[in-house]
Amino acid sequence: MKYVTSSVCGIKVSAISLGTWYLPRSGERDEYGIYKIDVDETKRVFKLAYDVGINFIDTANRYHGAVSPVPLTHVGYAERLIGRIIYELGLEREFFVIATKVAGEMASWPNASGLSRKHIMWQIRESLKRLQMEYVDVYYAHRFDPEVPKRETLSTFNDLVRFGYIRYVGVSNISAHDLVEYQMIANMCGYEPVSFLQYKYNWLERDIEKDIIPIARKFGMVLTVYSPLAQGLLTGKYVDTLKKQWIVPSMSRGEISDGVRKMFTDENLKKLHLFMEFAKSMNVSPTQLAIAWILHKSVHLEVPIVPIVSVSNAKQLEEIVSSLDVKLGSDDLEYLDGVAIENV
Ligand SMILES: NC(=O)c1ccc[n+]([C@@H]2O[C@H](COP(=O)([O-])OP(=O)(O)OC[C@H]3O[C@@H](n4cnc5c(N)ncnc54)[C@H](OP(=O)(O)O)[C@@H]3O)[C@@H](O)[C@H]2O)c1
Repeated sequence: MKYVTSSVCGIKVSAISLGTWYLPRSGERDEYGIYKIDVDETKRVFKLAYDVGINFIDTANRYHGAVSPVPLTHVGYAERLIGRIIYELGLEREFFVIATKVAGEMASWPNASGLSRKHIMWQIRESLKRLQMEYVDVYYAHRFDPEVPKRETLSTFNDLVRFGYIRYVGVSNISAHDLVEYQMIANMCGYEPVSFLQYKYNWLERDIEKDIIPIARKFGMVLTVYSPLAQGLLTGKYVDTLKKQWIVPSMSRGEISDGVRKMFTDENLKKLHLFMEFAKSMNVSPTQLAIAWILHKSVHLEVPIVPIVSVSNAKQLEEIVSSLDVKLGSDDLEYLDGVAIENV
């Protein structure tokens, strides 16, 4: 495994991170009609991650693992499962870099969401209980909260570092100007800086190239990116190459997520077709190409970019990890940029 670091913090994280928004599902549903998690397969995934050196685990206080958006009946399950699996497999907690998030709704009363001091102080304790841990390594603001002064959120995160509950501060899904303001306030007040970012980024969805990536480079932040496979689209599984049309394989995320099916456009179909042809010409799978593309973009853009992947089984993770061996030249990146950006 390769490990990534940055100029603002000393921690080393694996070049690939394992996410827990979606976890391996069993065919069974619970009393609410929601898919149950296949705990044995999830254990196999974690064991494989550990064995290949993936130390960076991504979760959030709201994640369940098989449903999104998460009803209040199911929030917190992913954190509980991570704690249970690390304990039951006898894995060394200190090996892992555990990242979790705060801001989403956790109950139905006032102050049960957001980035106020009251909410954050409540939720860090709850996350630590669910995870069965004494601290988390990276604590992200999951989204912006326009009702809370930035200084209140930053000073609370700063206190959490001092109390030993968290090691590093992160933010996710926040506009470029709010992000810069957070960092300026942290610098002016002597608070812990924002060291980790988390945004959506993949070969098809590249909004952050115009502002977030230059900011990450300027401040030396580690940029973790979610949906690196565009929720599975870039694996090619949703394309019938012969009929040139979209398909939804059974037990794929496309069956349960509107977010996947929203990407079924004519333009994406054309782009994906070219992407898959290119992967074939390089003798790699579309999945390997999609992950390798991000790892090479990281070098090219001079920003540590860590793809966070979710998997439905250990085999999927094996394929993802093998992307670390795929080599792309600057001509390959140029060709792929052309296909993605130009209107085909
Ligand atoms: N900060 C945020 O707001 C935010 C938002 C979203 C996600 N995240 C984080 O980012 C992580 C990753 O996001 P994501 O789940 O959208 O990532 P993704 O890697 O783009 O999509 C993962 C899905 O692709 C399919 N897949 C993965 N490997 C495969 C393979 N080798 N072959 C075939 N199919 C494969 C699986 O779906 P199926 O097998 O079910 O088809 C899997 O659930 C999440 O777990 C979460 O930790 C954060």
